[in-house]
Amino acid sequence: MEKENSTLECRNVSIEFPGVKALTNVNFSIGSGTIHAMLGANGAGKSTLMKVFAGANPGYTGEVLVNGEVVELRDTNTAKRLGIQIVYQEVDTALIGSMSVAENVMINSLVMDMGKRQFVNWPNIRKRAKETLERLNVHLNVNELCSNLSLAEKQMVLIARAIVHECKFLILDEPTAPLSDTETKELFKMVRHLRETYNMTVIFITHRLYEVLEVCDAYTVMRNGEIVGGAPITEQTTTKEIVEMMLGHSFDESFPKEATEIGEEDFEVSHLCDTEGMVNDVSIHCRKGEIIGIAGLVGAGKTELCKTIFGAMKAGSGEVKLHGKTLKIKNPSDAVKERIALVPEERRKEGVLITETVEFNLAAGSLGQFCNASFVNRAKTAANAKKYVEELGIKTPTIKQVVANLSGGNQQKVAVGKWIAADSDVYIFDEPTKGVDVNAKTEIFRLINDIAKLGKCVIYASSENQELLSISDRIYVMYDGKIMAELETAKTSEDEIMHYSVGATEAYAG
Ligand SMILES: Nc1ncnc2c1ncn2[C@@H]1O[C@H](COP(=O)(O)OP(=O)(O)OP(=O)(O)O)[C@@H](O)[C@H]1O
Ligand SMILES: [Mg+2]
Repeated sequence: MEKENSTLECRNVSIEFPGVKALTNVNFSIGSGTIHAMLGANGAGKSTLMKVFAGANPGYTGEVLVNGEVVELRDTNTAKRLGIQIVYQEVDTALIGSMSVAENVMINSLVMDMGKRQFVNWPNIRKRAKETLERLNVHLNVNELCSNLSLAEKQMVLIARAIVHECKFLILDEPTAPLSDTETKELFKMVRHLRETYNMTVIFITHRLYEVLEVCDAYTVMRNGEIVGGAPITEQTTTKEIVEMMLGHSFDESFPKEATEIGEEDFEVSHLCDTEGMVNDVSIHCRKGEIIGIAGLVGAGKTELCKTIFGAMKAGSGEVKLHGKTLKIKNPSDAVKERIALVPEERRKEGVLITETVEFNLAAGSLGQFCNASFVNRAKTAANAKKYVEELGIKTPTIKQVVANLSGGNQQKVAVGKWIAADSDVYIFDEPTKGVDVNAKTEIFRLINDIAKLGKCVIYASSENQELLSISDRIYVMYDGKIMAELETAKTSEDEIMHYSVGATEAYAG
């Protein structure tokens, strides 16, 4: 592909959904060969604007221009023909797990029309998939089933799918949210490679601002459906100035953990194994009021551990005890009855009822609380919903809004709120801040801290070690399904956590 200069621009673009003015007179333009960050708080309008470019928001008003010419982006095929490709926020829903890497990469051109007959040229499909992955410098077996891939690999498959056809503008909507630091570095290498080799333009959405400084050439900030500023990224750019532009006021990102009174031993997991070898002889314990962190890279078994405790994955052997009593948990409803709550990592699949309202979801963690006899007390569910919408800053026109219509980060806030509202004794959080903005993150921390103050047990799994260091009292580090180390938060460091995260068995030397 020769280097040519392409531009993508929009003028006075607006779009309205019932009750929400999602974009208001947005003006934006970008040229070839740049990596451009699109930033803003949850619900600011980032994904909505990107969907306009991708032809997935046909109801926009205003103009979009490619290479200076007005184009009508009223369907996704038109956008693709113009070289605009997008990888959406939710990785898992976009891939078909039961199909191979090759099929998933080539999904948009599996079937070839040969006159009256249609057929699939398998050798050609595999060859083109392989070539595309090689263009990205990614080495994956194209015959592997996508369900066997790590999240990072799935992300690569989606990017490969996007660039199979001529791609001048690649939009990545929060590609790094499910990735660990190491995988994020790989992704950045790939993105830079696309910029350098193909002069591609990459629009990159993220809530991790240090990533922006690392990989982007420039940034644009959106707030409440408008563009409020932006600049090239230089040595002098700081995350602080970006955050302040995002929120419209000054903001202190540091989260001071409040000391809580830590009580007696209350929750204990002994020698827990799942049936698939992902959780391997795990023993952990938690005292009343204590927040324990579960550290480890993506794929270390943190999610599987959370799910096995909660009965969402089958336990092979081992024991779970609460208040000194051994629990028999065969499924999530047993866990809920025993007053254990899980905020799962994959919110759209497991965390929220996507077609239900914000109000219903925020009550769904413990409907019993909101019932008189078997009637749901609407006044109570409404009051509860209003409280969490306020506390977590959930951006929604009303509490009656269907969750599917909220932005990604706001869906995550509902998933977290749902279980915080439930009155449980043990709270398990699996990557609860994935995709939420800096402000909401500190709110979630504060709410979790409040739960601990009530004398509850909190288990907090995250691949972001910084988060664990700010919120937890004690940290278990997992690697390959096993606990490698138990560390006191006050006495440990990111380096020590990393040391055990990569499987080191010798003691950390500092
Ligand atoms: N189909 C829809 N129906 C109703 N409202 C919508 C729809 N799509 C988006 N919105 C609203 O438009 C606003 C902007 O949402 P958008 O998804 O663009 O936010 P975002 O900046 O991508 O946020 P996040 O960081 O949480 O992903 C939000 O208030 C959202 O609820
Ligand atoms: Mg979004």
